[in-house]
Amino acid sequence: MKKDMPLPPHHCLVETSDGSFTLFSELFQEACHSTSGAKSETILHYIEGTNILNQIERFDPLTILEVGFGLGVGFLTTWEKLPRNRKWHFVSVELDRKLLEWFKSNHAEHEFLKNLKWNDHILEAENESVKLTILQGDARMTLPDYLSSHELKWHAIYQDAFSPKKNPTLWTKEWFALLKASSHPEVILSTYSASSSIRKSLHETGWGVQKGEKFGPKRTSTRAVLNRPTDPEILLQLDRSPVNAFTDLHIQETLHKIKE
Ligand SMILES: C[S@@+](CC[C@H](N)C(=O)[O-])C[C@H]1O[C@@H](n2cnc3c(N)ncnc32)[C@H](O)[C@@H]1O
Repeated sequence: MKKDMPLPPHHCLVETSDGSFTLFSELFQEACHSTSGAKSETILHYIEGTNILNQIERFDPLTILEVGFGLGVGFLTTWEKLPRNRKWHFVSVELDRKLLEWFKSNHAEHEFLKNLKWNDHILEAENESVKLTILQGDARMTLPDYLSSHELKWHAIYQDAFSPKKNPTLWTKEWFALLKASSHPEVILSTYSASSSIRKSLHETGWGVQKGEKFGPKRTSTRAVLNRPTDPEILLQLDRSPVNAFTDLHIQETLHKIKE
């Protein structure tokens, strides 16, 4: 990261415990990563959590969806970890255009990212094996719109929106139904959150909810699949929990655009 580059508006730079950096968003009043380590958290929850090193041996190309591009730690870590001779398509969504413009300028000398180009609200780069597509705007609109003209099925999903309290629209039943409709049967979804509300949103839309690894002060996290039912222990906890799943009736209007 270039230290002399002005930061994107309404963000502060924060160094995390493993020496990697994250951004704190003044609008959402939250940092993009755990202060225990932005990069270590990304490796644990997304690279290992979705098992992409194994998935890339099975799927050609491997198709990854990231929910929330932020400052690009998810993409950059994936770039570093995946073998160079395999094909993969990384699709991400991001509300904040200025954040993406900052990312683009910050990596203007990167061997791959120097080729990033805007095409209306899509920021894209491609070489013979890797394609990066970032959909700028509210993902509840941009993702169904993109999927209506691209036949993609996710093999891995990095569910990395801000927390359900601060960013509830990307943790709803409608959102997870959209992800399910556009996923491969062998998909692995992974997220840092272990809240009962988001687990209910996942379970009630047909995802098999599983326990994930602990990171930093958080005791657990969540993985979700379509080829196994919800872990009975989690089911029991959800039955006992008084909280409700999140819903967002608005997204219903756009769901029909997805090709099954
Ligand atoms: C936790 S940060 C993502 C961090 C990122 N994965 C990384 O590794 O740097 C969440 C991101 O989601 C974006 N976001 C929030 N609501 C959104 C929405 N409705 N549509 C698209 N992006 C959204 C925020 O602007 C923020 O940059």
